[in-house]
Amino acid sequence: MTDRFSFSLDATDGRARTGVISTPRGEIRTPAFMPVGTAGTVKAMLPESVRATGADILLGNTYHLMLRPTAERVERLGGLHRFMNWDRPILTDSGGFQVMSLGALRKLDEDGVTFKSHIDGSKHRLTPERSMEIQRLLGSDIVMCFDECPALPADRERIADSMRLSMRWAARSREAFGDRPGHALFGIQQGGLEQDLRGESAEALRAIGFEGYAIGGLAVGEGQEAMFGVLDYAPDQLPEDRPRYLMGVGKPDDIVGAVKRGIDMIDCVLPSRSGRTGQAFTRRGVVNIKNARHQDDPRPLDESCTCPACKSYSRAYLHHVFRAQEMISGMLLTWHNLHYFQEIMSGMRAAIAEGRFDAWEADFHKLRAQGDI
Ligand code: GUN
Ligand code: ZN
Repeated sequence: MTDRFSFSLDATDGRARTGVISTPRGEIRTPAFMPVGTAGTVKAMLPESVRATGADILLGNTYHLMLRPTAERVERLGGLHRFMNWDRPILTDSGGFQVMSLGALRKLDEDGVTFKSHIDGSKHRLTPERSMEIQRLLGSDIVMCFDECPALPADRERIADSMRLSMRWAARSREAFGDRPGHALFGIQQGGLEQDLRGESAEALRAIGFEGYAIGGLAVGEGQEAMFGVLDYAPDQLPEDRPRYLMGVGKPDDIVGAVKRGIDMIDCVLPSRSGRTGQAFTRRGVVNIKNARHQDDPRPLDESCTCPACKSYSRAYLHHVFRAQEMISGMLLTWHNLHYFQEIMSGMRAAIAEGRFDAWEADFHKLRAQGDI
């Protein structure tokens, strides 16, 4: 155990990397997938179950927790780790992105953003300083800079102005965060799909200096080809010796393509959210458990999967409980999906360590191409 935040790279294979982030609350094996626990819970999962899927770290959200139950209340109750019964690392997003995607009637100015709660319409304000304070009250281990992410498509000037505002906010975030040993502050690169703006953003962040660097503003509707286009150069614009985190991505093939291009950390609601809508991710692609073809099928979702949903239940049962809207449906499918996403990550970590990432990736795509059987 360490009392500091550090990152060590163990191996690289092409541009893919594997290593370990050490924090006082435990180690994070990279490349890492972070399940999303927006409101103090990974929906439908107990924390020990999330851990059993192989997660080293969870993501929480400033935006949701500040509105309910409030950061001050969480702090009074001993911090987010104790409140939600997860003692390993937690990364919190800063709120800016969620205000833009969820908040109503937002008003942006140089200092910050005023918005109405999506829960009760009450008025709130976030600034870089307030976001740092909230993330400190929550007890977050990895704190994200307060940024702004324009919806795409947007014209170049709008993207440039927004990126420059986010860089001024990054400097204010760094200043407000202060010196907190054992805790890390990550900068967030913006700049849309424009290579020079991404470069300018990376330069601004490097000049400020962060413990890690995120790539933001992707997976906002640009498509995989355009996203991979950015990932072909963006990781190289960021320091090699710090973790690189791709925010809010994605489907299994997006994640594999991102790791191939040098990403160390990634988060997405997809495995948990899809689990609650009857969508399962398997080695052979997506399975919609609501489909009538499963109703008499005694086989497991994936015969090679060791998760509880696959070990002990048939497709027919999973189909039945989904149709009957039983709570166990979301529980089992979420568990399976999180387990599968973590299997992808551990498979990639081992392949990178052994210098066989390309072969692993070829197998990954081959099995998917065969489809569900
Ligand atoms: N989640 C997904 N994309 C982003 C982004 O650009 N900024 C922040 N703060 N969170 C995100
Ligand atoms: Zn399974």
